Amino acid sequence: MASSKNNVSDISRREMIKTLGLGLGFTALPSFMASGMTEISIDALDHGERIIPVEEKDLIEMQKFIEDCIAANKESDPQKAVKEVLAKGVSNPLAMLKAIGNPTEAGLKVFLRSKELTIFAASWTPQMNLMPHNHLMWANIGIYTGREDNIIWNRTENGLEANDVRCLFAGDVATLATNAIHSVTNPLQKFTGGLHIYGGDFFATERSQWDPETLDEEPSDGEVIRNIFKKANEQMLRMKND
Ligand SMILES: [Fe+2]
Repeated sequence: MASSKNNVSDISRREMIKTLGLGLGFTALPSFMASGMTEISIDALDHGERIIPVEEKDLIEMQKFIEDCIAANKESDPQKAVKEVLAKGVSNPLAMLKAIGNPTEAGLKVFLRSKELTIFAASWTPQMNLMPHNHLMWANIGIYTGREDNIIWNRTENGLEANDVRCLFAGDVATLATNAIHSVTNPLQKFTGGLHIYGGDFFATERSQWDPETLDEEPSDGEVIRNIFKKANEQMLRMKND
């Protein structure tokens, strides 16, 4: 996963650097990333998801993968091309897990945020659930540890109806169309980790979420999402201490 390439293009360097303000002091950056950076605050990513700082070593390990995704996103069918990069990346789940690091809490490690592409590693605590939600941009999900069960929902005259299920194990990749609605469950008693890649700025997009019990649609609510991550992490700590 590690790249020996030090001459990253200006564009990919700029895009990667945008994410660095999340977790790294600029002084900690490797020299090849240390010019032309713009700081971004955690607030600018506030959808409610727990943002886990990306360590310098993780970013260096992931550099080649991120560059490949950026290049693939310029192809005529970006989602398909990025999916191929992702499938190759998670085809060796252990190597990807090593590059990203073992998940220790529910949250997102954001490796890239740009107008065209968002890449993050999402970790779900044991048996964590996320209610139905949309992204309003294409999405590719590749699992590198654990399992992620996706219910795909359709809008109907009678409201939301479950339409399809995709159980993703380590090494599996799923694609979601721009108008897809899904809910996510980690059915295991261990962490699930997946790379989530979106064809746009995931954090700048207003979306919908659906109440898990009534399936009523509501605007995506940062407070509700924040609580899900907080409770998942608290529950995990309780399980650890039992
Ligand atoms: Fe999602």
